[in-house]
Amino acid sequence: MSDNKVALVTGASRGIGAAIAERLAADGWDLTISSRGREALEQRAGELTELGAGRVEVIPADMTDADAVEALAAAHRDAFGRCDALVINAGMGQKGKVADLPVRRFDRLYQVNVRAPYILLQSLIPVLRSTADANGAAKVIAVASITGVYPEPELSAYGATKAALISLCETFNLEESVNGVSATTIAPGYVDTDMSDWLKDQIPGDEMITVGDVATIAHSVTQLSRYAVLPNVILTRPGENLHRA
Ligand SMILES: NC(=O)c1ccc[n+]([C@@H]2O[C@H](COP(=O)([O-])OP(=O)(O)OC[C@H]3O[C@@H](n4cnc5c(N)ncnc54)[C@H](OP(=O)(O)O)[C@@H]3O)[C@@H](O)[C@H]2O)c1
Repeated sequence: MSDNKVALVTGASRGIGAAIAERLAADGWDLTISSRGREALEQRAGELTELGAGRVEVIPADMTDADAVEALAAAHRDAFGRCDALVINAGMGQKGKVADLPVRRFDRLYQVNVRAPYILLQSLIPVLRSTADANGAAKVIAVASITGVYPEPELSAYGATKAALISLCETFNLEESVNGVSATTIAPGYVDTDMSDWLKDQIPGDEMITVGDVATIAHSVTQLSRYAVLPNVILTRPGENLHRA
């Protein structure tokens, strides 16, 4: 088992996942980073090492491919034998009214935003438990969305997958928190990343939540003891957006 704290971060090539990986790297964690493209991950691995990360494993995986997601979990387990933080961040969005959004798009969203997290949780429960036994606690941090809490027009399928992710993590807490393993979902409104580019003619990027804001919450969760379970954190934007993305 690694002596350093260890995290597996999905969607780590850019955006929120990259920011969370950077915070953990600065604390000297070992990391497995994943997304689809190897090249972006290799570049990110170099940057994380410069920031202070210990060992960084690069394991590309497409979250629509159940076998690849299982292989990612197995590769992390084999490499480190430890998981202090499982950061389930890779996700995709789709916009469209219920009247229009094709069901095949809903299926893809569900694969990436719900099925892959389920596979990661299930595959890594043994190593999360053994990490908590040996070191006090292990945390799951899943990046959901405010649309999983407060519905937003044209984001029904996306919001439904994020509501499912929040529910999955709540049930996980009921079953696993006695073992020192607990999950926190973070449910932000619009964050300034590539994913929100489509909206930036209406809401400028510099008026959106920052990736650093989300990384700060994720980092704080990793500091909690096994006796503190934080189910869901909603991050909203200023003004009249309390219940809106
Ligand atoms: N931006 C927002 O406004 C916002 C608000 C609330 C919640 N969120 C959530 O925050 C999370 C991160 O999003 P972001 O805003 O940081 O978006 P982003 O900048 O577009 O990054 C998405 C990350 O997920 C990876 N990814 C996408 N599809 C994947 C797939 N099929 N398999 C494996 N990896 C995949 C991407 O890497 P590759 O493309 O290289 O695979 C990338 O690393 C998502 O779960 C999103 O739903 C975002």
